[in-house]
Amino acid sequence: MFEVSPVYEENFNSKAKIKINQGGTWSGKTYSILQLLCTHAISDPNSITTVAGQDVPNLKAGPIRDFQTILKTTPGLPRFIESYNKSDRVVQFHNGSIIEFKSYEDAQDAHSGKRTRLFINECNGVSYEIFKQLYIRTSKDVFLDYNPSSEFWVHELVLGNRSLYPSVQRIISDHRHNPFLTQEQHDSIERLKYEDEETFKVYARGLTGKIEGAVLTRCFMIEDDQYPNDAKLLGGGLDFGFTNDPTGFLEVRMQEGELWVREHIYETGLTNPMISERLKELNWNSRDEIIADSAEPKSIKELQDLRWKVEPAMKGPDSIRSSIEILNRYKINYTRSSVNFHKEQKAYIYKKDRKTGKSTNEPIDAFNHLIDPLRYVALNKLSAYNKPVKAPKYSF
Ligand SMILES: Nc1ncnc2c1ncn2[C@@H]1O[C@H](COP(=O)(O)OP(=O)(O)OP(=O)(O)O)[C@@H](O)[C@H]1O
Ligand SMILES: [Mg+2]
Repeated sequence: MFEVSPVYEENFNSKAKIKINQGGTWSGKTYSILQLLCTHAISDPNSITTVAGQDVPNLKAGPIRDFQTILKTTPGLPRFIESYNKSDRVVQFHNGSIIEFKSYEDAQDAHSGKRTRLFINECNGVSYEIFKQLYIRTSKDVFLDYNPSSEFWVHELVLGNRSLYPSVQRIISDHRHNPFLTQEQHDSIERLKYEDEETFKVYARGLTGKIEGAVLTRCFMIEDDQYPNDAKLLGGGLDFGFTNDPTGFLEVRMQEGELWVREHIYETGLTNPMISERLKELNWNSRDEIIADSAEPKSIKELQDLRWKVEPAMKGPDSIRSSIEILNRYKINYTRSSVNFHKEQKAYIYKKDRKTGKSTNEPIDAFNHLIDPLRYVALNKLSAYNKPVKAPKYSF
């Protein structure tokens, strides 16, 4: 029924109870595991499958969205499905099987319920205690997936720990295992080679690395209801993408000397009229400024003609560094729903010098589709604030 990739085959053929899918970005881990979970749900009546994630926003942006794509693009699949309860996030199959999408607050929360199969998506965002509680209540397969940006409990407590976890297989994949990507998509991942060795190793090869040295040093996650909706709006930040890179749009507010950030758009394939539609759906006020990538004057003009108040970012020769310097003067609070911003601020690091291994002061040109718009707002709206006080010149 499914068009599958080698990642699916590997997982399907694995005899191990725990299938650890370590991999680079876009290798097809999440998609393949979800397809396989459907295969099992159909062939194993009355089975219960739990797809777990760090929190509901991550489930929605990740596995739930992928599941919906699989459902839409697999002609034979819908006839097996009775219903999807959106509020409970439960897929009910005609044969009595279910697939539920859940997140757990803590280990105690994970004590409830038993299941046939478990998938923890991006499991490095979930604690070991939660994994353990879910694992011991799972009778058949356990699937884990993650990008290995650093070692964590999978490496420290699961791999090689035969007494507790006797049946484990690690499947390492990268984008070269995914036949469903375009050549441009493959090329854009391979280009990480020119950015940073460690980043390339993790995201292009799926090998365990040690990503450190975040460029933005003062980012903090807040709950969505802590976001100050009435704080002073500095503006929206917009970065244009299309085929490979997503279009990124976020809003930035200022309150009590801190920045408050909320992600709104992170999506590929958006034309300018589509961006305009998205802004309408967001109820973005057409009088509120949007600061956009000045490298795309044509797009800026098109959005202006559609009545949006878009202005180009004041980029200059050293503006990457200067905007980062400005941003790092502030505590940056971002909402839990800003899942892509959360990922980018962790992956956006300074390039390392290939010879010395030391961080340079040049950030990588990747994972910046929401970081750049934030910088644009900083460039146009913050440079006037908090200017470092220059020491007066004295002549003796
Ligand atoms: N069997 C498939 N059929 C069609 N498209 C696929 C298939 N497998 C993967 N893809 C495409 O490849 C994209 C990347 O796959 P996926 O999201 O599973 O990668 P991933 O390894 O989970 O990446 P990341 O580590 O970034 O989360 C999917 O969004 C989908 O478009
Ligand atoms: Mg994934």
